Amino acid sequence: MKLITLKDIKEHIGEEVKLRGWVRNYRKSSSKLRFIIFRDAFSDIQAVAFKPEMGEENFEKVKQITLESSVEIIGVPQEHPKRKGVYEFQLKDLNIIGISENYPIGKKEHGADFLLSHRHLWLRSKKQNAALKIRHTIYYAICEYLNKNDFYRFDSPILTPNASEGTTTLFEVPYFDLGSAFLSQSGQLYLEAGIMSLGKVYDFGPVFRAEKSKTRKHLTEFWMMDAEAAFVEHDENMDIQEELIRYVIRTIIERNSKELEILERDVEKLKKADAPFKKMTHREVIDMLKNKGVEIDYLDDFGAPEEEMITAGSDVPVFVERWPKEIKSFYMKRDKDNPDLVLGADLIAPEGFGEIIGGSQREDDHDILLSRIKKEGYDVKDYQWFLDLRKYGSVPHSGFGIGLERLIQWMSGIRYIREVIPFPRMINRINP
Ligand code: 4AD
Ligand code: MG
Repeated sequence: MKLITLKDIKEHIGEEVKLRGWVRNYRKSSSKLRFIIFRDAFSDIQAVAFKPEMGEENFEKVKQITLESSVEIIGVPQEHPKRKGVYEFQLKDLNIIGISENYPIGKKEHGADFLLSHRHLWLRSKKQNAALKIRHTIYYAICEYLNKNDFYRFDSPILTPNASEGTTTLFEVPYFDLGSAFLSQSGQLYLEAGIMSLGKVYDFGPVFRAEKSKTRKHLTEFWMMDAEAAFVEHDENMDIQEELIRYVIRTIIERNSKELEILERDVEKLKKADAPFKKMTHREVIDMLKNKGVEIDYLDDFGAPEEEMITAGSDVPVFVERWPKEIKSFYMKRDKDNPDLVLGADLIAPEGFGEIIGGSQREDDHDILLSRIKKEGYDVKDYQWFLDLRKYGSVPHSGFGIGLERLIQWMSGIRYIREVIPFPRMINRINP
């Protein structure tokens, strides 16, 4: 008898097969009839246990099952007589592999804290399973796009001697006789070395920020894809980001329709976002916000409410570009038309999902960069290697970093970032 999975169920209609998985749920209908919701990695199926069909002995085994017991089921898959594409399983026999006693997650509503404390089990729920499948697709879609467009994967180190995104969110770790090391906030600075050899590069891995903020969009450990390209300037940098994000949207719609349905994601909204993105300068945004009565200044950054106002009424993401140099990182290139501004752009997702990408053209002039590093109060010797890149064949170049979890949140419509990563790390939680 063939061992199959629910992925291939429709190829085995009417045939006796075996499946392995878990009991999501079960229900007693009468003394002779029970229904089991069986699940494997791919899907759920209702298995019908009918005593006259199974025989006394096999039916007794069905009576032993509990929520989340692991089982092997033997029987015949059938298509539902009235609902096309819905399958049922006529059970002939069932073997318990591992019994589950008093599974803590039940039908009643659990609070977020309870679920997070049981994250190792919560992962099995239908919505969490769907979210993680979408994560998988997005991860590979990003890599596919970059690989097709001649970006080489170039892995940046996690243990670093210096900061790329300011010193306030650094995690410090003791490092032998050399003092302290810091967990990377972004691999960008290293990618800038990589492009001088490989032209276009990207990294994709965990980054760390000691974020003091407890919001639904912040983790202390999250995944970032940083991309960097030689000879690419500000406008082209935004074009690449737009093309990449639109590729991800189309891929998700194509490969994850079932998961989007489980998550009740409005797919029409995603389809509408696959159109030319909008652009506003930071100054235009401030003017717009002021007109709407927001108390804000020309040197202010945006919080969640402002981000929502930026994309209000827009189906597509909005690039906010040309920021005051005071509120952006030291490595961003000055705008030659206005030296008070830098050629950075943040991409703000619609529907209140906020900033998903931070990017910029990089300062390629040695002396300007040196003065920016000094102004930040950084130790120049830590950045000597980074300055070297401006001494030996410097080129105009740009790059950007996508927050993977933020992008998953938007694609899947999940409001809380803690649900789109297997084991979230937050200011008040490191377990499990
Ligand atoms: O805007 P950020 O700070 O940009 C950089 O780190 C650049 N060095 C990237 C580059 O140019 N290569 O971070 C990039 C993105 C943000 O737009 C956001 O989506 C995400 O990373 N992000 C976070 N996601 C979850 N939790 C946090 N605490 C995050 N901080 C930033
Ligand atoms: Mg940013």
